[in-house]
Amino acid sequence: MDSILVTGNGPLSGQIPIAGAKNACLTLMPATLLSEEPLTLTNAPRLSDIKTMTELLQSLGAEVSSLQEGQVLAMSSHDLTSHTADYEIVRKMRASNLVLGPMLARLGQAVVSLPGGCAIGARPMDLHVEGLEALGAEIDLKDGYLHAKAPGGLKGAVHEMRFASVGATENIVMAATLAKGTTVLKNAAREPEIVDLVECLRKMGAQISGEGSSTIEIQGVDRLHGATHQVVTDRIELGTYMLAPAICGGEVELLGGRMRLVDSFAAKLDAAGIDVTETEKGLKVARKNGRVRSVDVVTEPFPGFPTDLQAQMMALMCTAEGTSVLEERIFENRFMHAPELVRMGANIEVHGGTATVTGVERLKGAPVMATDLRASVSLILAGLAAEGETTVSRVYHLDRGYEHVVRKLEGVGAKIERIKGQ
Ligand code: UD1
Repeated sequence: MDSILVTGNGPLSGQIPIAGAKNACLTLMPATLLSEEPLTLTNAPRLSDIKTMTELLQSLGAEVSSLQEGQVLAMSSHDLTSHTADYEIVRKMRASNLVLGPMLARLGQAVVSLPGGCAIGARPMDLHVEGLEALGAEIDLKDGYLHAKAPGGLKGAVHEMRFASVGATENIVMAATLAKGTTVLKNAAREPEIVDLVECLRKMGAQISGEGSSTIEIQGVDRLHGATHQVVTDRIELGTYMLAPAICGGEVELLGGRMRLVDSFAAKLDAAGIDVTETEKGLKVARKNGRVRSVDVVTEPFPGFPTDLQAQMMALMCTAEGTSVLEERIFENRFMHAPELVRMGANIEVHGGTATVTGVERLKGAPVMATDLRASVSLILAGLAAEGETTVSRVYHLDRGYEHVVRKLEGVGAKIERIKGQ
C-alpha cells in the first residue's frame, strides 16, 4: 500500500488550482438517472469516489464516459437495465445512496443496499426514507437492502426534515422533480453542493426555487431533458489548502476559490491571525509573522463551520498559541486523527464530541496512519509543519477526495512524495 512522506521545510508560496467538488459531483452524477437524454459534467474531479459512482451507474445500465483526462463526464441513462444498487459497491461509499431518489422517480422502483457503519459514525438512512415516504413511496428493509416502490408514481407533499441532512435533501429534491404536483421541503440542507445540484436540475428542465435557503419548493414535471453543467469548486479542498500556508507560513493563492464557499471557515482563520483576501482568480491566504492564535470551533450544517474541515483545523490548532476547543456536532466518531496527531507531539484531550487542543511550539515527524479521508489530509498538513519526516500510511483514503495532492503541494514548495507500496 502506498504512503506519503512529508518533510517539514518552512514557508510556502505560489498557486494551487482547486478542483470541482467531489460532493457536488457525487450528487450530480446520479441526476443522470432522471432523464433519458445525456447529461455532461465538466470540471469533474479525478478521484476514486468518482470511479465508484461511475461503476455504480454503469451497473444500473447507464453509460458513463470519462473524457479529457477525467475532467468531463459524459453520461446517458437512456436504457436502464437494473434498479438495484448492490452492497458490493454501496459499502465502498455511502454517497451511493444518492441513486435511490432518482431511480424511484424515473422507474417507480429502487433497491438500494444500506451503506452500513462507516469509520466516522453510524450514518443511518431514516431521513431519506421519511422524505421519500412523504412523497408516496413504500419502503421496506429486507436483507440489508431498502426496497422502495411507487407504483402509481410519486406525489408532491409538504415535508419537514428532522435534521438538515445533505444527502436526504439531495435524494428528496431529485425524486420530487418528477413527482406529480408541488413538494415543499422544509428544514432542507443549504450546502453549496445542493445549490449546484438544483442549478443542474433546472438546466434539465426541473422547476425548483429556494435552494440555498432552508425551504426548497419543487414543482414536478413530466420529464427532464439533457444538459451540460460545470461542477462547483470544491470548498473542502479549498479550505484544506488554505490551511497549508496557515500552518507553514508563507502566501498561497487558491485558484478558483470564492469567499462565499468558505465564509465561516475564513472567519475562524481571520480570528487565528491568518490573512484571507479574495482576488480576481481566487483566494489569497497569508501568514507572515508569529504563531497562530487558538480559536474555538463548533461544526454545524452550512453556513456553519464544516465538519469536513474539522480534522484539518485541528492540525492547525496543534501549533497555535493557547488552548482551543473543537466541538464535533455532525458525526459522533470524528476524532480518529487526534491520537495520530498526539504521536507527532500534539497535546489533545478528547471527551465525547469535544477535543481540547493546547498548542505546542513545534510538532515532530512520526509514522502515522490515515483513518478516513479528511483525517488523512490533516496528518499531511501536520507533517508540513513538523520537524523531520512524517510518513502517512493508508493513503487510499486520500485518493477518494484529493486529486494530485503531491503535485499541488510540491508546486508551492512543500517537500512531499508518494512512496509506492508492494
Ligand atoms: C455529506 C457529505 C459529507 C459531509 C456531510 C456533512 C457527500 C457525498 N458527503 O454526507 O462529506 O461530511 O454531508 O456535511 O455529500 N443522518 C441521519 N439520518 C439520515 C441521514 C443522516 O441520522 O437519514 C445523520 C448522519 O448520521 C450524520 C448527520 O445526519 O450524523 C449528517 O449527515 P448528512 O448531512 O446526511 O451527511 P451525508 O449526506 O451522508
